[in-house]
Amino acid sequence: MNANNNTDRILILDFGSQVTQLIARRVREFGVYCEIWPFNNAADDKITKFNPKAIILSGGPSSVTEENSPRAPEIVFNLGIPVLGICYGQQTMCEQLGGKVESSDHKEFGRAFVQIKQNCALFQDVWLENSQEEVWMSHGDKVVSLPNGFEVVAVSDGAPNAVIANENKKFYGIQFHPEVVHTPHGKELLKNFVINVANCSGNWTMSAFRQQEIDKIRAQVGDKKVICGLSGGVDSSVVAVLLNEAIGDQLTCIFVDTGMMREGEAEEVIELFQNHYNINLIHSKSSDLFLSRLSGVSDPEQKRKIIGKTFIDIFEDCANSIGDVDFLAQGTLYPDVIESVSFTGGPSVTIKSHHNVGGLPDKMNLKLIEPLRELFKDEVRILGAELEMPEAFIKRHPFPGPGLAIRIPGEITLEKLEILRKADKIYLDALHEWDLYDKIWQAFAVLLPVKTVGVMGDSRSYEYVCAIRAVTSTDGMTADYYHFSHEFLSYISTKLINETRGINRVVYDITSKPPGTIEWE
Ligand code: XMP
Repeated sequence: MNANNNTDRILILDFGSQVTQLIARRVREFGVYCEIWPFNNAADDKITKFNPKAIILSGGPSSVTEENSPRAPEIVFNLGIPVLGICYGQQTMCEQLGGKVESSDHKEFGRAFVQIKQNCALFQDVWLENSQEEVWMSHGDKVVSLPNGFEVVAVSDGAPNAVIANENKKFYGIQFHPEVVHTPHGKELLKNFVINVANCSGNWTMSAFRQQEIDKIRAQVGDKKVICGLSGGVDSSVVAVLLNEAIGDQLTCIFVDTGMMREGEAEEVIELFQNHYNINLIHSKSSDLFLSRLSGVSDPEQKRKIIGKTFIDIFEDCANSIGDVDFLAQGTLYPDVIESVSFTGGPSVTIKSHHNVGGLPDKMNLKLIEPLRELFKDEVRILGAELEMPEAFIKRHPFPGPGLAIRIPGEITLEKLEILRKADKIYLDALHEWDLYDKIWQAFAVLLPVKTVGVMGDSRSYEYVCAIRAVTSTDGMTADYYHFSHEFLSYISTKLINETRGINRVVYDITSKPPGTIEWE
């Protein structure tokens, strides 16, 4: 747990909503520390020890009318602290406190309007009595009778109890989703709950986090040694700089050049860490090893597993050569560690084997240090700025550990890697030139294992297809494709084909996530 005893904390119990993480993001934006726990992994003593100033119950896909549907631990309502139930959270709160929920014929999904019937602490300086307000709903069930002590403070066509309040106990239930941007004043309602109702001070800052983490790392590591895999991405770079500040010489970073890096990547990383920070750095030039192990392999999962295993082998060699290494530091982020709750309460399916999350320490017998495991990506960038890292590094788009290997569907060859590296550089340079890079969360080129016929000059060409990808996102969990102008698309298509030997066709990937993923493999 990262918040120290003086930090106010909010506990969010997750019932499996797709947007639970947005609640946490909002709370953090108010300067208040919070954690998301699955509803079924919240034992009474764990909650008491966490000592939250308030609890938020998230939405979820279940129906409280079904047998064995999830319930909040009873202690939530007995701690004497404010509770906010959102959507499913409202319904289970009502049911558990003696109210009634039924399936509704009038289901509401998407934009809806609520009428404000009475003032309440959530609405303070946001919504006025008798006004009509836009919200985002997603529900089939509705609360039909209220528990004792509750009053209706807002209604909608499909939800006669759209917002309910027990001001005495500071319990609130909201049928719509205040955490999504489609509820225009939702953020302010949440802020009222967190700051005014729960009385949190909003003093959780990145500078406090930095100091807490440094103290924690020093206490954990003592006089032992730590290795840290550096990928050149923001997360591992921030971890390395933080560790360097905490333990200096006891840290050795390992930059593995897999041969599947972007153009200039290795040089940039080495320059930053060796020259700028004077960090112990091993530069493992291992592209032959990776390429030989990947030779003839086309299956995406097999590729990922081979790459993960090769990283382990290299880290192990390095740890042995350093001697007495007890810890491995990783840039694992909060979205990677949240145990999302599926409808059945079980773990969610593996879409891809991310090589930097789990797996490594078990096999390597090293203890883990994961200083970013409670942060979202944008918070990592704020921490990077707090650590005064160069802006160009902080603002870099995410780059996956397996690198270009997962951007070449099918078999990887040196020839394909060279083509892709070139195309990727042209594409990213163009984004900088057109002032688009910072508007996009992640952009890259993909080399498709398809050759098509073209005509260049007066000759026939038969070359590969290059797909370009650009997405907007907040944390990589969901993403939308970036809406480039046709002018830019024409420019980049011509430039890629003219300047990259081996490509004669360019396509733009307009798939969102879901149903796609950001990377192609
Ligand atoms: P997907 O493709 O799952 O990716 O939508 C979400 C984000 O994660 C990055 N990614 C990885 N990062 N190791 C990493 O460090 C991996 O194995 C890995 N696979 C995907 C991806 O680039 C995107 O930012």
